[in-house]
Amino acid sequence: MHQKTLHEMLFALLLCLACLLPEVTMDQKTKEVYCRFNTTILLMGTNLNASSVFNVEWRTQLKGREKVSILTYSPGSNNIYINESYRKRVVFSHTSFSLTIHYVTLSDEGIYTLTIQLLNKQQQIDRTRVTVIIPILNVQITSETSAPHQGKNITLNCLGTAGNAMSYSWQKCNQPLPIGNRTILSKENASLTLINIQQSDIGTYRCVAQNALSSGHKDFILQLCAETGVSSWRSCGIYGYPGYLGYAIVLFYIFSLVKRTRKSSSKDQSDTIYENIALENTPTTSKRVPPVCIRHIKK
Ligand SMILES: *[C@@H]1O[C@H](CO)[C@@H](O)[C@H](O)[C@H]1NC(C)=O
Ligand SMILES: *[C@@H]1O[C@H](CO)[C@@H](O)[C@H](O)[C@H]1NC(C)=O
Ligand SMILES: *[C@@H]1O[C@H](CO)[C@@H](O)[C@H](O)[C@H]1NC(C)=O
Ligand SMILES: *[C@@H]1O[C@H](CO)[C@@H](O)[C@H](O)[C@H]1NC(C)=O
Ligand SMILES: *[C@@H]1O[C@H](CO)[C@@H](O)[C@H](O)[C@H]1NC(C)=O
Ligand SMILES: *[C@@H]1O[C@H](CO)[C@@H](O)[C@H](O)[C@H]1NC(C)=O
Repeated sequence: MHQKTLHEMLFALLLCLACLLPEVTMDQKTKEVYCRFNTTILLMGTNLNASSVFNVEWRTQLKGREKVSILTYSPGSNNIYINESYRKRVVFSHTSFSLTIHYVTLSDEGIYTLTIQLLNKQQQIDRTRVTVIIPILNVQITSETSAPHQGKNITLNCLGTAGNAMSYSWQKCNQPLPIGNRTILSKENASLTLINIQQSDIGTYRCVAQNALSSGHKDFILQLCAETGVSSWRSCGIYGYPGYLGYAIVLFYIFSLVKRTRKSSSKDQSDTIYENIALENTPTTSKRVPPVCIRHIKK
């Protein structure tokens, strides 16, 4: 009975000790840091008293590469080692152990680890994931047409230039684009296809491109090509301007004009024929001379 409680007490003591072991502190969350390309990044150190620290090491695991030691420092001996390939562009604080890296490039992306070994054999590990961001310069939308015919499909392709790690989203008339049967987004949202375009699809479509440090947008005004468009000879000649009614009116006008002219000319003709016969006595000339001219002569 006594022995059992002793065991339990020992077990509880072991658990408590486990809380103090370094493995527990290793489980800290990885911090996320976004850094603009070609700028300076500050990787935070610690607020531990340097006199309690035995050794400090900054390491990095660059994307898809081996772990690399950037620097090691022992406060006790004031010894510092900085990797040759970092020497020119890093600044290390001997008090807070922060690390400053200048002229950050895309190849600096990765996880940076600060390991602090204390004199009492504990250690503290801090991880920071560094993502390097190139700001978006501008956004473009390309499409085969800006005014498709009703019932056709249209695809708008969006492209943010210069930037990296971009994501795209779409709006219509400043509202999030309602995704329905006739609206299809590509896998990464970079292109938007509208199927079977209707009158209700007319409007301003906006592509928003953004990454962690910048964003940009471009508008596209969708119009419908008018049904009576003059884009092809067929629509122009048969369905197009001036249309069936227009042609009917024009034809009617021409017919009535011809009719009227004939009527008046036949009236004149009878007079002139008579005159002509009287004057020249040559029936052939009367046929050749237009009635209008003869009427003029008559005056
Ligand atoms: C990085 O910035 C420096 C000045 O801060 C500039 O001289 C250099 O051209 C830049 N490099 C790139 C690749 O943008
Ligand atoms: C660090 O610890 C030493 C001795 O333990 C003490 O004298 C010093 O004031 C401490 N420094 C800070 C900034 O707390
Ligand atoms: C120093 O950095 C280079 C390149 O970043 C790496 O290849 C090398 O292994 C590093 N040195 C140490 C001791 O980690
Ligand atoms: C529009 O896209 C749909 C679905 O992809 C397709 O079935 C249809 O034939 C297309 N219509 C035209 C006019 O291209
Ligand atoms: C989507 O299409 C299905 C079948 O094609 C139809 O039943 C449904 O009403 C459509 N929904 C919308 C919002 O157009
Ligand atoms: C694409 O857009 C939709 C809605 O506009 C959004 O829910 C989704 O997360 C986006 N996907 C990507 C990969 O950005």
